[in-house]
Amino acid sequence: MIAGPASSDLAAKIANRLRCQLVVADLRIFADGESKVRIGKTAVNCVIVQSTYPPADTHLMQAMMLTRKCADDGARDVCAVIPYLAYARQDKAFLEGESISISLVARLFEAAGIKHLITVDIHSQLVTSHFSSVSIQNISSLPILAEYARSMRLENPIAVSPDAGGAERVGEFARVLQCGFLVLKKSRNRNTGEVTVDGNFQTDIKGRDAILVDDMISTGGSIVSAAEVLQQHGASKVYAVCGHALMIGDAAKMIRAAGVRDIVATNSIPNEFAKVDLSEAIAAALKSRYSP
Ligand code: R5P
Repeated sequence: MIAGPASSDLAAKIANRLRCQLVVADLRIFADGESKVRIGKTAVNCVIVQSTYPPADTHLMQAMMLTRKCADDGARDVCAVIPYLAYARQDKAFLEGESISISLVARLFEAAGIKHLITVDIHSQLVTSHFSSVSIQNISSLPILAEYARSMRLENPIAVSPDAGGAERVGEFARVLQCGFLVLKKSRNRNTGEVTVDGNFQTDIKGRDAILVDDMISTGGSIVSAAEVLQQHGASKVYAVCGHALMIGDAAKMIRAAGVRDIVATNSIPNEFAKVDLSEAIAAALKSRYSP
């Protein structure tokens, strides 16, 4: 197993669970920002662990370099564990003339030599359709996030998706937490990125703890708008859980200022919000691939 520079802790945890050898990629960043990776030893079957959170292009490039190195050294199988897959939100052209970036990312990975991709909370099913020769295994973090939520001692909780795209997600979360759920309607101005959540819904949430569930938090705009709407409807405490807490800029500050009590995410991105460990689920996925 090869630990990419973005995911050294997670890779170490997975390798420890699988009791496999861990090779830590050596990284050098040149003055112009270019990366150079070096790996002591590759194998016939290589597993690379590298999440592609910001700086996304740099982390993506490092993942491609590691893949190519393994392929050049004659690896028969290169599996990339990329818990957070950058560009997955650009899975279609929203405005005329836009490029479909994830399609390019998929082709680059295929050209680099990836055979199998393990990812977490993939943004949409559409993303997978852009890969042709790579098999994809998506792990849902919802069961473990919901298990974590159980320990939060929520009062009469309701799970809430900020948008219709997260309906299935929030349903799965609510099943594990054994609570009801609500799907809000969100719209985003495709030019400015500004988010609006529709406050027009009938479900009575007065006095209930609301737990917002999303695949990722980036600028925090979706969570902030949804939290405001929930509080206007009388929700008691509001929390946010997500697979990937990118937390760009002042996201955390804004979310807290909007009244959200806690933000819980997986360790796909190593930061203060990474309270739920993915290593067991990823190790299980790798085990089923290599020793079914
Ligand atoms: C959108 O479709 C996603 O599921 C997230 O809701 C979104 O990407 C979060 O972004 P932000 O935090 O910038 O609102």
